Amino acid sequence: MTAIRLRINGAEVGHDVPPRVSLADFLRDRRNLTGTHLGCEHGVCGACTVLVDGEPTRACLMLAVACDDRAVETIEGFAGDAVMAALRRNFHRHHALQCGYCTPGMLITARDLILRRRTGSDREIREGLAGNICRCTGYTNIVTAIAETAREAPNA
Ligand code: FES
Ligand code: FES
Repeated sequence: MTAIRLRINGAEVGHDVPPRVSLADFLRDRRNLTGTHLGCEHGVCGACTVLVDGEPTRACLMLAVACDDRAVETIEGFAGDAVMAALRRNFHRHHALQCGYCTPGMLITARDLILRRRTGSDREIREGLAGNICRCTGYTNIVTAIAETAREAPNA
């Protein structure tokens, strides 16, 4: 076991973890943060996307021990985050999810795209979402929801 301390959704936590446990398994199994979904478990689908020190990160590819002394945000976080709140509202309004399996990763990636101003056109949004796979929606409503959020929050 390796002792780690990290901040998860703003709270300082300490854990002893096996050195080969992924961040995704740690979040789900040890912290009960099951909004971090596991699809492919090898870095392709984006369902497990979280923020590590503010950067979108595949939680299935990162070891929990590599997050020692770092900050992790999961979909259960983002309290008071205006862009995330607007994204959630617009995903609901535009029916941008069906089963919802991809949605946590989509929302975290979409928020990052908006904050980095990578939402100038539908094509740019689709390119930004290239690492997040959705098997249900055909993406059109997801792109619409993100574009509307970007228009609502130009100075986010
Ligand atoms: Fe991590 Fe698919 S579960 S990228
Ligand atoms: Fe089902 Fe995207 S809503 S995978």
